[in-house]
Amino acid sequence: MDKFFEYDAVEWNGDKTGVKIIDQTLLPKEEKFLILRTPEQVYEAIYKLRVRGAPAIGVAAAFGLYVSLLPVEGEMDHFTAEFRRIKQYLFSSRPTAVNLGYALERMESCFKKNIALGLEGIKKALLAEAEAIKNEDVQMCRAIAENGLTLMRPGVRIITHCNAGHLAVSRYGTALGPIHLAQQRGLNPRVWVDETRPLLQGARLTAYEMVKNGVDATLICDNMAASVMARGEVDMVFVGCDRVAANGDTANKIGTMSLAVLAKHFGVPFYVLGPSSTIDRNCATGADIVIEERGASEVTDFDIKVFNPAFDVTPAELITGIVTEKGIFRPPFGFGIEK
Ligand code: MRU
Repeated sequence: MDKFFEYDAVEWNGDKTGVKIIDQTLLPKEEKFLILRTPEQVYEAIYKLRVRGAPAIGVAAAFGLYVSLLPVEGEMDHFTAEFRRIKQYLFSSRPTAVNLGYALERMESCFKKNIALGLEGIKKALLAEAEAIKNEDVQMCRAIAENGLTLMRPGVRIITHCNAGHLAVSRYGTALGPIHLAQQRGLNPRVWVDETRPLLQGARLTAYEMVKNGVDATLICDNMAASVMARGEVDMVFVGCDRVAANGDTANKIGTMSLAVLAKHFGVPFYVLGPSSTIDRNCATGADIVIEERGASEVTDFDIKVFNPAFDVTPAELITGIVTEKGIFRPPFGFGIEK
């Protein structure tokens, strides 16, 4: 499983003074790497979806906060003010994915814990914390892949939405992790790839990953999912998540809820896959999740009013199971209560 991609979505540059990302807006046509060194560059990369996917955004923000602070010297008060300013700025880049705030909060706790060490000691600790956030995500994704694999049998036909794969996380993927693993273990999964309007994360990014790993995948437009389900050609749905409320309501890429409704209608199991860090116990239900709205230019250049929400919330009652690194949770979810 280690080798199917030669790079991760978020890495260090050689001397760890920059965040190296592949520009996902250019995939699959061009593999162009960028080195981000300033808060503005990191913000722009997250906002413009050059790096995207809930866990990858969190790692990019943690790495980005660290490299942005590298040139900051002087009194501790000044460093503290800069830390807070950059953290808040990066936090404002996208609202829905829980991982962004999770990673930045961890960096702040690390800063506070190590404040007595002085600037050099603090920076060293922040570097280690950013790496720990990524490494933990790698381990969680690996475990999600193994847990998701238990749901699959040879030749299983899965439909997925958006890109919850290697590009969206630290390594392997969440919804696509078990699929990559199944392919490597000879289960020959067959995947329906939703194009995912308006920014085509499915048609561009999931398609790229499937082809790169040799998975038997077929691209469909979003409005074709009902048709393939009606033909009896879908065994299960695998999707990722940006924020899971305590009751199991799940925010993910716009269009996910439509798939869930269809799956219910056609009796197809609907699974959400994500690290437990995506569960937000402070969010009682999906109604508490802030949904990002994006610009009209992503949808049209014609002069008409546009509504462009980036995510929707799938009600818990449409979800068959939530696959995390800890196992597969079945309804009723109740993540507010420690299980
Ligand atoms: O707008 P995006 O491309 O960041 O949306 C990504 C998704 O909706 C993913 O499914 C989600 O972040 C899970 S990634 C493992």
